[in-house]
Amino acid sequence: MDARSRLTDLMLGAWAVQALAVFVRLAIPDVLKDEAKPGALLAAEVGADADSVERLLRALTSVDVVECLENGTYRLTDLGQLLRSDGEGGAGAMIAMVGDPSHWLPWGSAYDAVVSGEPVSKQVFGKSFWDYIAENSDQQARFNRAMTDTSKRASKTIASKYDFSQFTTVVDVGGGQGILLQTVLREYPHLKGILFDLPQVLDSAEIDDDLKERIELIPGSFLETAPGGGDLYVMKHIIHDWADDACLEILKNIRAVIPDHGRLLISDAVLPGSIPESGNTADSDSDSASPSQSGLRSTFPYWLDLNMMIILGGRERTEAEFADLLAKTGFEYLGVVPTDGPTGLVEAKPAPG
Ligand SMILES: C[S@@+](CC[C@H](N)C(=O)[O-])C[C@H]1O[C@@H](n2cnc3c(N)ncnc32)[C@H](O)[C@@H]1O
Repeated sequence: MDARSRLTDLMLGAWAVQALAVFVRLAIPDVLKDEAKPGALLAAEVGADADSVERLLRALTSVDVVECLENGTYRLTDLGQLLRSDGEGGAGAMIAMVGDPSHWLPWGSAYDAVVSGEPVSKQVFGKSFWDYIAENSDQQARFNRAMTDTSKRASKTIASKYDFSQFTTVVDVGGGQGILLQTVLREYPHLKGILFDLPQVLDSAEIDDDLKERIELIPGSFLETAPGGGDLYVMKHIIHDWADDACLEILKNIRAVIPDHGRLLISDAVLPGSIPESGNTADSDSDSASPSQSGLRSTFPYWLDLNMMIILGGRERTEAEFADLLAKTGFEYLGVVPTDGPTGLVEAKPAPG
């Protein structure tokens, strides 16, 4: 593809992702399933304008999520099947969240974020991102869904790559709806868990009946406190949401309650010290991506880093940056447990004294 065509494709990508988000939000993939339907019938079933749905579908054929058959009906391609709410990997939930005002509006002010060095949520919403989604329950629900659905595979990886057998109680700090805790507790039947998150998130926690006795829900803010009683404290995709100052508060709160023999596990992308090669477009899920070990092949963490910068003022960090935060809060950095993906497991223990 020539250079100009590549740039045009990149520009169209901005529109395509919003069209996909509408497609998912209208639940068209769930309504279609394995059938082929005319656009007008689909529009009636999802409660949207017939002409507009037809035009949406026509455009989306070019990104290969639906195909238009000779009789004018539409059906999902293999790619489109992944956008069903029961599709593997949570792609649909993530796209719906990215298309929401919670994400789309701050990205519309990305220029201001880069110029000022400050996240734009307060400028755009008049409040923090977390307060904004708390007041918009449909967006909060789509955010929670995206976190839970995309965490399913990562949770299985964490449960298989880290040895939880030496612990008795795992505290998932900012654990969302509880997918990681449940995956780990299923692998390790002796373990108990504490799920700690904001009250409005715990209200929608999805704990299976057979695990309810082993998991305690504790609402609260990790900027103010952390629940005692654990010997392993886990934070998945928490530290990257925050600027250094807030991270220090979160880590200090955990340090105040973690026992001397306890461990802390941070699951986030771990950036290599050097910039990736230009034009590297390897799949972020590639098994060969091993950021902490041999240089990052995927560029996904760098895009995630921009997302954190613009919306939250957070950042993805290198091993040295994690070690620095840990040293400043009374932890001894132990290393990164590799996971065969862009997300590493940063392990630490309380420093003596
Ligand atoms: C990026 S999500 C990660 C959720 C989950 N750990 C996962 O990986 O799927 C960040 C989580 O932090 C929670 N959170 C944000 N601010 C918080 C606070 N002040 N105290 C406790 N939890 C908070 C959010 O509600 C959300 O569940």
